[in-house]
Amino acid sequence: MKVIYPGSFDPVTFGHLDVIERASGLFDQVLVAIGVNSQKNNLFSPAERIEMLEELLYDYDNVEVKTFSCLLTEFMQSEGIHTEIRGLRAVPDYEYEKQMAVLNKQLYPEMETLFMISRPDYAYISASYAREIASYGGDVSGLVPANVEMRLREKYAGH
Ligand code: PNS
Repeated sequence: MKVIYPGSFDPVTFGHLDVIERASGLFDQVLVAIGVNSQKNNLFSPAERIEMLEELLYDYDNVEVKTFSCLLTEFMQSEGIHTEIRGLRAVPDYEYEKQMAVLNKQLYPEMETLFMISRPDYAYISASYAREIASYGGDVSGLVPANVEMRLREKYAGH
């Protein structure tokens, strides 16, 4: 079975990588899909986000990375994928995730959303905190891989 793991990945964190690694062991193919929303003020461009993910996922033969800039349900249908994976860290994620899963299913009744509970040591990692800590020059080595840490440092150099 081929599954999709969508997200903003701005930037990819250890939490995302853990979900991708586990999904890659469970399913035949995993499509990591970067949602591109021109209204959103992302730190990294779509090309930068693809590059960081591809550097990290080089060794995973059954994982590919793409961007999409339409509804997730439309993109899934165009890719012939019915199953979405999302990570769940803690209770605050739940309402947001449930709402998206229910709305997505209304749009695309054949789809299913599967949740993967984050490893406890990654449950407090988020891309937004990684960006915030890095913007103050703080240490993000426990939150993101080294290639991402380097790019965060470059982004905020001189701030
Ligand atoms: O990592 P994120 O920011 O929680 O990912 C959110 C994402 C990209 C999966 C979500 O915003 C999305 O699916 N965007 C595409 C537009 C869409 O389908 N919106 C309707 C959601 S019910």
